[in-house]
Amino acid sequence: MTQTALMQLAYISDCHSGTTHATVAGIHQQAKRNNAVNKVTGVLLTTDKHFMQLLEGEPQQVEQTYQRIRQDARHSNVRLIFSRSIAQRQFPNWHMGLKRVLDEAEHSDLQAIISMYGQREQFSAQQADAISLLFTSL
Ligand SMILES: Cc1cc2nc3c(=O)[nH]c(=O)nc-3n(C[C@H](O)[C@H](O)[C@H](O)COP(=O)(O)O)c2cc1C
Repeated sequence: MTQTALMQLAYISDCHSGTTHATVAGIHQQAKRNNAVNKVTGVLLTTDKHFMQLLEGEPQQVEQTYQRIRQDARHSNVRLIFSRSIAQRQFPNWHMGLKRVLDEAEHSDLQAIISMYGQREQFSAQQADAISLLFTSL
């Protein structure tokens, strides 16, 4: 039996200063609905300045979803961190998990990392590995 190829992709973007809880909730609802249909899974991290998202699934579905997301006016400066094939999904049960990374002691490391990567325009292989590990720890 042939196994379906899977890929995983991560990006970081800038959110607008006026991004509200309701905006994020709306994005999350839309993401969960579409991703359930497209068999896309992953997680969306939000801070007061950035979105960082991991998408996984069949390559065509992941690419199409990413292209729609890139054009979305609710964020800007969408930068790819990594894109690669994977043997199995990391978040098989989440059509889109949401984690709001707030400025709390619990999240301060995660917030610092997202903020640091949010300043960058390009990502080295090492930085991509570091981000990949960060998603593993969620
Ligand atoms: C930060 C962010 C994350 C998003 N994540 C997803 C996603 O995982 N899946 C998805 O289909 N749309 C996602 N969207 C929404 C898409 O950009 C786009 O609005 C949507 O896919 C269009 O769907 P519709 O044709 O059902 O309106 C996201 C948007 C933003 C700003």
